[in-house]
Amino acid sequence: MTEQDFIPKSYDNSIESGSVKWSSPSNIALVKYWGKKKNQIPENPSISFTLSNCKTITEVTFNKKESDGFSFDVFFEGEKNEAFKPKIQTFFERVEAYVPFLKDYHFKIETSNTFPHSSGIASSASGMSALALCLMGIETMLTDTIAPSNSTALSINSVEKSQFNQKASFLARLGSGSACRSIEGELVVWGENTSFTNSSDLYGVKFEGEINSKFKDFQDTILLVDKGEKQVSSTVGHQLMFDHPFAKERFDQAHTNLEKLKEALISGDLISFIEIVESEALTLHAMMMTSMPYFILMKPNTLEIINKIWNFRKKTASHVCFTLDAGANVHVLYPASEKEMILGFIKNELAEYCENGHYICDQIGLGANQIQE
Ligand code: PMV
Repeated sequence: MTEQDFIPKSYDNSIESGSVKWSSPSNIALVKYWGKKKNQIPENPSISFTLSNCKTITEVTFNKKESDGFSFDVFFEGEKNEAFKPKIQTFFERVEAYVPFLKDYHFKIETSNTFPHSSGIASSASGMSALALCLMGIETMLTDTIAPSNSTALSINSVEKSQFNQKASFLARLGSGSACRSIEGELVVWGENTSFTNSSDLYGVKFEGEINSKFKDFQDTILLVDKGEKQVSSTVGHQLMFDHPFAKERFDQAHTNLEKLKEALISGDLISFIEIVESEALTLHAMMMTSMPYFILMKPNTLEIINKIWNFRKKTASHVCFTLDAGANVHVLYPASEKEMILGFIKNELAEYCENGHYICDQIGLGANQIQE
């Protein structure tokens, strides 16, 4: 597939107005995407667990208009929101060639998250994927051979679901790179690499191969160490990889780690899984500490938690491990079979390092859903 293949030939249907609604989850990278080329093309491949509970729910209502240009209003959690508009404007500019109906309608975009707004959890993956799915929903209404209705009850059965998902992922990538890994579950790979023959720089693909049952319902408890705005936006963060002294080694390492992680996920080798995942998290942060300008995004409590996890693992031989985003919060990952023990550990020993004792319990999920009303 090339970018050109995502440009539609024409639309069969003419629709005056309608609405679509999608719910799309966040994801947590195991091998991290950090560094990009032009047009949101990743410098290295990545893989993530799709989450289940941390989601964005977006409804897009559209009405035909005559005027030129993009026209949209954004409502976040019921209130008109101007702050999100520039990002959506940029997204519309990037995807217009692939969804050319964008200038034909005025859009009312109503969005909300299932996780607290100020939690330090990035909402760009779930937010951009939900919006991309709504645009795909509208495109389906415009191309569907079944007479379109202007209600949300559109049918996507008549288009190949995999084509729908692929293009949704392609569009989401243009909003926020990691968003392309939020359309499907349970594990999604993004970025060309030799271990996954169907992998692409343009969109995420489902993990190829049978995932070992040890990873079924894998748990992710997100410890909210710092609920504030991110110190370094991912846009700035990706730029830090230009001319980074260790960039080439890092990009090569991601390929090797992905290869090794694939084997661990298939064989159920939790020890290797832990080693790769924790090393990836620390490498991401090491890249930020060794860039110019340099940043330390962990907080003292992030380190306290990491040390507690390491001690607990040694003491109990459990398979708990951690990963980090580009911030201070800690994702605690563990098998469902150890849930009771680890939740006890989190409550008794880790919650005190979280802002107001807050943490969010999540687990591996199956991907986005259309909401029919
Ligand atoms: O999708 P972006 O541009 O916000 O970048 C996300 C980068 C990380 O979350 C740090 C890693 C990843 O692969 O998700």
